[in-house]
Amino acid sequence: MGKVYVFDHPLIQHKLTYIRKKETGTKEFRELVDEIATLMAFEATRDLPLDEIEIETPVAKTKAKVLSGKKLGIVPILRAGMGMVDGILKLIPAAKVGHVGLYRDPETLKPVEYYVKFPSDIEDRDFIVVDPMLATGGSAVEAINSLKKRGAKHIIFMCLIAAPEGLKALEEAHPDVDIYIAALDERLNEKGYIIPGLGDAGDRLFGTK
Ligand code: PRP
Ligand code: URA
Repeated sequence: MGKVYVFDHPLIQHKLTYIRKKETGTKEFRELVDEIATLMAFEATRDLPLDEIEIETPVAKTKAKVLSGKKLGIVPILRAGMGMVDGILKLIPAAKVGHVGLYRDPETLKPVEYYVKFPSDIEDRDFIVVDPMLATGGSAVEAINSLKKRGAKHIIFMCLIAAPEGLKALEEAHPDVDIYIAALDERLNEKGYIIPGLGDAGDRLFGTK
C-alpha cells in the first residue's frame, strides 16, 4: 500500500482555513492555492536523489550536493489542478507539465475524460498528479489510469482536501501511489461535495459559477 501523508504544517493549515471561508474571493483564493502548492511541493520532494560534485568557494575546494537530475512531470487534472502548477514549478522549474482534462458528470459523479497530453518521454519521468479536491476519487483514479496506460511508472498524488471515501478509492485502485494531502475532511454530501470542504474548487479558482 502507498503511504498517505497529511501535512499539519501551521502555514499550510492557516492558508487552508482562508480558502475554506466562503467570503474569500477569487484573487485571494488563487494566491493561497498557489502558496499551499509550493509548501506541499517542498515536503513532497524531500526524497529527491542528490549527487555530490566538486566545487570551489572563494576560499576552498569542497564537495557539495546537487539534485541528480531526475526527470519530473506535473500533471494537473483540469481545470482546478491548474491552480497548483505554478506553485510547484517555483521549486522545480525544469519539470514538464502534462494535462488531463476530466469533469465529473453531475448526475453519475463519474469522471469524463476530454483531453490528454503528456510529455513524450513519459516512461523516464516521475509524475506528481495534482488536484485541489479528492472527493469520490473517480477523477484521480482515472487520471492515474491514463498516465499508467501510457507507460508512467512512478506517480504521486497531491491534493489540498480529501474525503475519506476518495482516499479509500484511490488507495485501493493505485496501491503503489503515495498520497499527499493538506487536510482529511469528514465526508461527502449527497451531491458528492466534500464536507466541510471549500465548495467547488474550479469555480472558486476561476470565478465561474
Ligand atoms: C472537481 C475537482 C476534482 C474532482 C474531484 O473537478 O477539481 O477534479 O471534482 O471529484 P471526484 O474525486 O469525485 O472525482 P470538476 O469535475 O468539478 O471539474 P473542474 O475542475 O473542471 O471544475
Ligand atoms: N469537487 C470540488 O470542487 N469540490 C468538492 O467538494 C468535490 C468535488
